[in-house]
Amino acid sequence: MEHEDPRNGESNHRNSKKPKISSKFISESEIRDEFSHHQPGVARINNGSFGSCPGSVLEAQRQWQLQYLRQPDGFYFNTLRNRITASRKIIKDLINADYVDEVSLVDNATTAAAIVLQQIGRSFAEGKFQKNDTVLMLHCAFQAVKKSIQAYVTRAGGSITEVRLPFPVNSEEEIISEFKKSIEKGKSNGRKIRLAIIDHITSMPSVVIPVKELVRICRAEGVEQVFVDAAHAIGSVKVDVKEVGADFYVSNLHKWFFCPPSVAFLYCKKSNLSSDMHHPVVSHEYGNGLPIESAWIGTRDYSSQLVVSAVLEFVNRFEGGIEGIMKRNHEEVVKMGKMLAESWGTNLGSPPEMCAGMIMVGLPSRLCLNSEEDALRLRSHLRDCYEVEVPIFYQAVKDGEEGVRDKDGFITGYARISHQVYNTLQDYEKFRDAINQLVDDGKTCKMLLIE
Ligand SMILES: Cc1ncc(COP(=O)(O)O)c(C=O)c1O
Repeated sequence: MEHEDPRNGESNHRNSKKPKISSKFISESEIRDEFSHHQPGVARINNGSFGSCPGSVLEAQRQWQLQYLRQPDGFYFNTLRNRITASRKIIKDLINADYVDEVSLVDNATTAAAIVLQQIGRSFAEGKFQKNDTVLMLHCAFQAVKKSIQAYVTRAGGSITEVRLPFPVNSEEEIISEFKKSIEKGKSNGRKIRLAIIDHITSMPSVVIPVKELVRICRAEGVEQVFVDAAHAIGSVKVDVKEVGADFYVSNLHKWFFCPPSVAFLYCKKSNLSSDMHHPVVSHEYGNGLPIESAWIGTRDYSSQLVVSAVLEFVNRFEGGIEGIMKRNHEEVVKMGKMLAESWGTNLGSPPEMCAGMIMVGLPSRLCLNSEEDALRLRSHLRDCYEVEVPIFYQAVKDGEEGVRDKDGFITGYARISHQVYNTLQDYEKFRDAINQLVDDGKTCKMLLIE
């Protein structure tokens, strides 16, 4: 990296000590205490949207906030930067990056997408890329990321190539084959694919994507840059950025890694692009490397970036630490998904091995879920009338396509259920019974009242 700023972190590889995993594991009642700030009575089976943060980590955050408020100048000059670097070092080891200056802490995946896409947009605007060169993305990419492509790339003259993925999906091969077809389409008429954006775990519908294989295909096909949007990854699947091999990889720490909102890491592989990566909020540190630019974007609360070590202490109270949590969340969500699908006579949206802590479960066709509005109405109704919090996906059956059927018709709605350490069997039973009651009462989505 040019003009390396030593404050970006130490470049020499040093293994930080692995925290000890306790021999006495956290009890059920201690878990309940850690999440006692959750609204009682709500079956919260949507960790995927906003994540969750235990009380002990919130307390650590509060201590940082107080330390700042007690003596802001001392905190700014003596503490903040070092502590952010300490968090980045922990992340560097967790994700198997080579250098701590490959790891920046930013607010969220949306900010990271802006960083990557602004760099692409500048290359179009400055004539380094030809008009109509393209950015490849999955058709089910996160809406905010799609809007960023529109804002930074399309307006600067770039085009978009979408990869249409099948859903429900039966195998990784189905995804790989569609991806290859879109690469061919992207490269047609002499265009260059300047960037591919690949989700590690898609949001809606939620599926774990064979990201390593897709990055490999990108490299073989001459795609210039690859950005993995792994908003849901850390804490729900193994993250090894070297194994994935992308140029950029972002994951929220506030979704599945128990940080308070909001904080994400953005990994940028060390390369000659590194000096052209900038935070969208320009402040005093502009030009000093992305990690340092991101560590001061004006006066604000940085405490969520300082609690990564407190999160490690929390997860290491569980058997197997974060890996044990991931494994159990996966096993439980598959079990719960199967239980719901069996009760409703429906299907799962993907094989269990293509999901992590979230799984898609088909809803009975008798609910007549026929539009995005119906999906939102059902979600709101479940919240207002049953205290169940779960996102609902509408899957249109298009002419000529073979849809999946239950005994009454085509399945056009799927619930995305999550499992996190605070969930109990009762949460899923409550959801099961709510849907069964709606069906038994002959209710369709159109009939549902929202408070
Ligand atoms: C795949 C994906 N990308 C990006 C985001 C945006 O995350 P954030 O709102 O934290 O920026 C999400 C949020 O759910 C997501 O699922």
